[in-house]
Amino acid sequence: MCGIVGYSGLKPVRQVLTDGLASLEYRGYDSAGVALWENDAVTVIRQQGRLSKLVERLGLMHEQSRCGIGHTRWATHGQPSEVNAHPHRQGRVTLVHNGIIENYLQLREELEKKGYHFQTQTDTEIAAALIDSCYTGSPLEAIRKACAGMEGAYAFAILFDGHPNCVYGVRLGSPLVAAVDETGAYLASDLAAILPYTDRYLLPEEGELLALENGRLTCYDSDLQPMEPVWKQAHWSVEQAQKEGYRYFMEKEIHEQPQALRRTISPRIEDGLPTFGVDGLPAGFFQKIRRLYITACGTALYCGMVGKALIEKIARLPVEVEVASEFRYRDPILEPDSAAVIISQSGETADSLAALRLLKARGIPVIAIVNVVGSSIAREADYCLYTYAGPEIAVATTKAYSVQVAMMYLIAILAAGERQVVDQEQQRRLIEGLEEAVELTPKVLAMKEEIRSYARGLRDTESMFYIGRGLDYSLALEGSLKLKEISYIHAEAYAAGELKHGTLALVTPHTPVVALATQPELLSKTVSNMREVMARGGPVLALVTEDLEIDAGACDQRITIPGKGGIFAPLLVVIVLQMIGFYAAEERGCDVDKPRNLAKSVTVE
Ligand code: AGP
Ligand code: GLU
Repeated sequence: MCGIVGYSGLKPVRQVLTDGLASLEYRGYDSAGVALWENDAVTVIRQQGRLSKLVERLGLMHEQSRCGIGHTRWATHGQPSEVNAHPHRQGRVTLVHNGIIENYLQLREELEKKGYHFQTQTDTEIAAALIDSCYTGSPLEAIRKACAGMEGAYAFAILFDGHPNCVYGVRLGSPLVAAVDETGAYLASDLAAILPYTDRYLLPEEGELLALENGRLTCYDSDLQPMEPVWKQAHWSVEQAQKEGYRYFMEKEIHEQPQALRRTISPRIEDGLPTFGVDGLPAGFFQKIRRLYITACGTALYCGMVGKALIEKIARLPVEVEVASEFRYRDPILEPDSAAVIISQSGETADSLAALRLLKARGIPVIAIVNVVGSSIAREADYCLYTYAGPEIAVATTKAYSVQVAMMYLIAILAAGERQVVDQEQQRRLIEGLEEAVELTPKVLAMKEEIRSYARGLRDTESMFYIGRGLDYSLALEGSLKLKEISYIHAEAYAAGELKHGTLALVTPHTPVVALATQPELLSKTVSNMREVMARGGPVLALVTEDLEIDAGACDQRITIPGKGGIFAPLLVVIVLQMIGFYAAEERGCDVDKPRNLAKSVTVE
């Protein structure tokens, strides 16, 4: 998500801040801004768009300033704009923020009653006002008191009027590093912004406070007692730091899924029940409709197929899913009393945007599920449910898909309650199932060596199949795409029951088959299909949840997925599929983050 930097010392701070932000731009690039101490006052300069536009605007000005903070934004609350760009200022407090303040609306109401007025749509401005409202002369006291009232995640770099050349830092849930060199003291979202100056750094624990005062760094515990810093030694290059030590952004983004999922679902669960109130979706929205259309492209389409299965199974609401490039040209027959969902990580996919415009022209209300705030699809939809995966750099989407699927669960469970298919107790149990699945994702990530071992065996494979039934078929589609688009191995996903109607002719001992078997009610049928493949000598890898049994003769190899089989298995099995694609591509020496012929956002038709 966003990147923050701070410095206090002997060097001209403008250059330190912009250099630091340049190394953090992979964390977000919607806007950039700095706040500088000069002439005993704080000057704020903010610019929508990439950092280069801010650098151009700053030019060689503010050369005298030796202390300040900076920010490169990945918007979560409030469109990318100069108004919403950080730093944000309220009263005597100026700050930059990485994270999401989940209770920002409640805090906003309380602060407005105290006379605060807000100019932006961001949660961050609320945090600045809260800290200001707690300030009675001690920055550390104000920060500690304000943080006690905030829910969610934050890493702040903060300036206080009256405390020239001082920067304060604190974190909860979001990353923050600090360091010193012979010129002064630094803080930043991650090491990439620190390494050009020193390889010695410290990682404040959650709730600990940092004070960079006239070039000196002091650490305080949550009781505001000074602490001895615990210094660490970095062994990474800047680029490695941007990838947090992973070799590729895709590998890093696969491993970011647990926190991306938590960030996305937790603001939409209140008292154990699903809600999109924070997104402005009216209560009862799904009660009024009799059909839901979902349209998207690529991986987002496959998420839509998972959504169809979940929404029909849980909410008994009819759902039609269609690839956007077909939907937009076929003059579709659309039912009255229906609604539509457009799923898109980038929010700029041309076919999906065109489908949205067609739906709106037909008077169909459109919900967008988008990862990029302020993108075209987000802006043109009637409602937008943002996912909080953060920037996804690798062309092959991973964490963005997982959070999209999480939104499908929330929609299905919410719609089921609104349509009175389930009661609140049943909804709570379903939400618990979703949360349990999210909490199991780190266990799947820990299986990477087992998965890598299988994927390495695909090095010389020319063609393979992914098969499954029901939800497993939708996941098979995503698994085959992940493999194809980064390893260049031809792969086809097939409904397991369909293989024998022709395609089985292609199965030989040289065509590996990945069989997904996570749906209990379909297990025996899927096992039969696995046997059909085995009988032709096709090597079968079975992906089976830990509670389901298949006899050894049904497959050559088995990877056991943590958790129970059934509707929540997709969140776990997809990580295995992502890793198979990733490690196969790595084994074949492919450019994993930037595969040939592809682009991260397909804005052409
Ligand atoms: C997925 O790995 C691909 N990069 C591609 O299929 C992608 O999902 C598709 O182009 C849709 O992109 P969007 O989600 O940004 O609309
Ligand atoms: N929530 C803040 C905003 O929307 C920070 C976003 C982030 O950390 O990505 O500006």
